Amino acid sequence: EKVVLAYSGGLDTSVILKWLENTYQYEVIAVCINVGQEEDFDAIKQKALNTGAIKSYVLDVTEEFITDYIYPTLKAGAIYEDDYLLGTSFARPLIAKKLVEIAENEGAVAIAHGATGKGNDQVRFEASIKALNPYIKLIAPWRVWDLKSREDCIEYALKNDIPIPVTKKDIYSRDSNIWHISHEGGNLENPWNEHDDTIYKLSVSPENAPDTPAYVEIQFDAGIPVAVDGVKYNPVELLTVLNKAAGAHGVGIIDIVENRLVGMKSRGVYETPGGTLLFEAHKALEKLTLDRATMSFKKGVSEKYAQLVYDGLWFTPLREALDQFVNSTQQCVTGVVKLKLYKGSCSAVASTSPYSLYNEEFVTFGEDDVYNQQDAEGFINLFALPLTIRALMNHNKDDK
Ligand code: ARG
Ligand code: SIN
Repeated sequence: EKVVLAYSGGLDTSVILKWLENTYQYEVIAVCINVGQEEDFDAIKQKALNTGAIKSYVLDVTEEFITDYIYPTLKAGAIYEDDYLLGTSFARPLIAKKLVEIAENEGAVAIAHGATGKGNDQVRFEASIKALNPYIKLIAPWRVWDLKSREDCIEYALKNDIPIPVTKKDIYSRDSNIWHISHEGGNLENPWNEHDDTIYKLSVSPENAPDTPAYVEIQFDAGIPVAVDGVKYNPVELLTVLNKAAGAHGVGIIDIVENRLVGMKSRGVYETPGGTLLFEAHKALEKLTLDRATMSFKKGVSEKYAQLVYDGLWFTPLREALDQFVNSTQQCVTGVVKLKLYKGSCSAVASTSPYSLYNEEFVTFGEDDVYNQQDAEGFINLFALPLTIRALMNHNKDDK
């Protein structure tokens, strides 16, 4: 029988590959999904074969990741617990989808992954796979085997002729793709330790960023970014350009304690350079183009959307329904926002849209001839009527 393994080329998934063969006599099909992380994918593909896989796939899904997972989440304005731009969370359902497709094509009976039994990723992978194909068996070796540590893995690797990476193991647990890189574990596990700025992979430390600010103009079409500084790009190029611009100014670094779905708190440092620019610019454009009632209602949708994405509930009717609401709000989110980047901060300093509801003629402090200030008196009389009636009641009651 065959099993599809989500393979990264690292020590853990290499050990898992061999362990699946040794323990269940499975034939292993290794699948490495490229969501924009920096890797030598040819080497990974070859390493899987060298380790015993009967077949090895590398799939570049970076563009699909941006258009079908990142953009819907950006349009929804979904941010988990007010800070986290969900970089790892929304990559998982896409990876799961590709694993399922390959398992179905190959006639594999099971899918295995290297997420631990303590985290969110196991839930995201497995919930997504269940939603797409409930007949596939799920194998999470970290929840099954008796290997407890990296040392155990190295011992297993040595015994089974698995090549061990020569580079010294990073003390951090990292996950990266075109949207972000996460850093967890190591000395971050004590939340009283300030994180070390040598940790960064995509950004300069804000303290070492240039002393002069940079400006970036992002153009959106119906909520989707299409150009930077007047130049049109495809999704992968656009995010690459923004990552560079933001990373050079230390923009998009957060250091947070978050609530995992499995019940514990964890501490992580996340770099989301280009994504932070996109969220900031998108928000500014919505402020210009969305009416007050829609903005207020959408805030609740954003929070719900973020929770669904974080919890791995991507392939659900609720997420699809929320997308329809969000898309309806985005029709007029078209225009350009100018951002100013300076030593780790990013602020929208100017915005323009053909659908702008901002009307200077009405709002001006100067003289106008469209707004009759006398209308305000009647408006306030009725608007404040419940306040007036209650105050009268209180007043009369005290008289009695
Ligand atoms: N805590 C973040 C999340 O749950 C990042 C997880 C990183 N995953 C990893 N396998 N290193 O989305
Ligand atoms: C893991 O436990 O595999 C990584 C962390 C997480 O999934 O939250």
